[in-house]
Amino acid sequence: MCGIVGYVGTQQAAPLLLEGLTRLEHRGYDSAGVAVLGGSGLRVAKRAGRVRELADGLPRRFGGKVGIGHTRWATHGPANDTNAHPHLDAASRVAVVHNGIIDNAAALRTELADDGIVLASDTDTEVLAHLIGRSRAETLEQRVAEALGRVEGTYGLAVAHADFPDRLVVARNGSPLIVGVGDREMHVASDLAALVRYTTTVAHLDDGEMATITATGFTTYRLGASGLAATERRAREVDIDPTAYDAGQHDSFMHKELLEQPTRAEAVLRGRLDERFGTGHLGGLNLDARELRAIRRVKILGCGSAYYVGQMGASLIEELARIPADAEAASEFRYRNPIIEPDTLYVAVSQSGETIDTLLAVQEVQRKGGRVIGLVNVVGSAIARQVDGGIYLHAGPEVAVASTKALTNMFLGFAMLALQLGRVRDLSIADGRRLIGGLTRIPEQIGDILATESDLAVVAQRLAAAESLFFVGRVRGFPVAREGAQKFKEISYRHAEAYQTSELKHGPLALISPDVPTVAIVPDDELVERNVAALHEIAARGGPLVVVTHASVDLGHLAGGVGADGVDGAATVRIDVPRNERELDPILLTIPLQLLACHAALELGHDIDKPRNLAKSVTVE
Ligand code: AGP
Repeated sequence: MCGIVGYVGTQQAAPLLLEGLTRLEHRGYDSAGVAVLGGSGLRVAKRAGRVRELADGLPRRFGGKVGIGHTRWATHGPANDTNAHPHLDAASRVAVVHNGIIDNAAALRTELADDGIVLASDTDTEVLAHLIGRSRAETLEQRVAEALGRVEGTYGLAVAHADFPDRLVVARNGSPLIVGVGDREMHVASDLAALVRYTTTVAHLDDGEMATITATGFTTYRLGASGLAATERRAREVDIDPTAYDAGQHDSFMHKELLEQPTRAEAVLRGRLDERFGTGHLGGLNLDARELRAIRRVKILGCGSAYYVGQMGASLIEELARIPADAEAASEFRYRNPIIEPDTLYVAVSQSGETIDTLLAVQEVQRKGGRVIGLVNVVGSAIARQVDGGIYLHAGPEVAVASTKALTNMFLGFAMLALQLGRVRDLSIADGRRLIGGLTRIPEQIGDILATESDLAVVAQRLAAAESLFFVGRVRGFPVAREGAQKFKEISYRHAEAYQTSELKHGPLALISPDVPTVAIVPDDELVERNVAALHEIAARGGPLVVVTHASVDLGHLAGGVGADGVDGAATVRIDVPRNERELDPILLTIPLQLLACHAALELGHDIDKPRNLAKSVTVE
């Protein structure tokens, strides 16, 4: 979604701003722009399209050592040159870039229009530029604070003003902003990805905070009804590998991130498994054994893939801890006036830690007195800061829109949480150790699946030819099917629908034909016979099958191998994954589905890191 960059220092700002915007491209955007403050005042260039096009079209004289930049993902008004940020006030002395949504923009636009101001764009952001531009307060900080006092909604914003050419003023409320400290220069960005090339010394602003950025430092304030009160915020070193944001020799970030899964899985497990007592050791939960024991229900909240892995987590918790657990799409949760119970543990799960629906769901729970823990990947993100405890997922930066390694680590996080909840109840030490053994094997087993990539690519090429596919599974396998369909549709743009295998007969079987392949999740578990029977029903109707299963499963006369002549005939292709403990199988069954999606999208010639219409972090409702 939208991205912000800013620079104040001794170098020309424009090239640095453009480089920063390039680093934010993965978040998804439809237009881009920059503004610089130099000897000839404020200069702006913006347009619909890619950052590359903006850079190519930049006027030759575009000098200035202070500047702001933006990538826009359209919300108010279409993606065109006029609606692109930065937005200017009537006198063209103020430039504003903004992430988030101003809820009372319509009323403010009317008020400005009544005062004779002609608004150039359809955006909510432009009102901010006019409000700041017409303020007569003494300092830029006061002018921005005055304007923000008039708006309702969410924002991360950066302001440049020709009357205050030595500084930027930035502010945050619900949309992240990070200040990066360099050598006689300062950077600002909405995402660490745009900063790490220049500095790893950063300060995350809090909601309700504002900062002044000059070449030599930054000062922070709290925005309040009675004005600006100085806050004490120090920049800290973040432990991040600057090359994490380079795809290296890989042709996509998704592929790079897929292959990182064994090492990232080791990272999330490291130091969190207690072999001796057969339990998880998640210190960050801030819950002692008595508090864990008092939990009567678990409710997991996440969006998209995080929701599907939440369903896998709910199964794990029910199986290991025997506590009722379920997952719900965070985007729906707060709109049904949910009942918040004191003995329910709420778990927010998010890669970015920025997903607004999940953040608002967390706030809804907390407002009603509930306790929320987080499974979050991005350190210092909004959700990580909002929750009452939790763990980081240690997946490293995930750039591709399609989540892979973060999702795997979410599953492993849930497994450790389930173990810990189980071991303060009836899960035996022997079972605890059995599961720890299973968890310890997972990184290597993921590696074994990844090693079959070339075979899976052949299957994917054939699936790519189908306009429409089913992904089916039962109980533990159903969220796997949902995640498989999600990954496939988001990057291949094929219609991929997930169903419970048991529900096929109740409707979707009518769609089975030689043109509609089914990817079936068939682990060797207590449901294997029922699952295989359903495969026969599909095959009998000419439906091509790809079965993700275990080598021990007998598919009878349906059997084929990866690369066998299936998919486009009625024959079956089987993909065998290594066996683990039953409860942990879902994540291993998920890995081949990631590779199928990746290779189908490559076969179709799509830009798999930037799927159409999608953004990496969904920061608006
Ligand atoms: C995953 O492949 C998707 N891009 C998407 O569903 C994602 O999982 C969802 O938007 C939630 O994001 P989050 O984990 O950053 O909260």
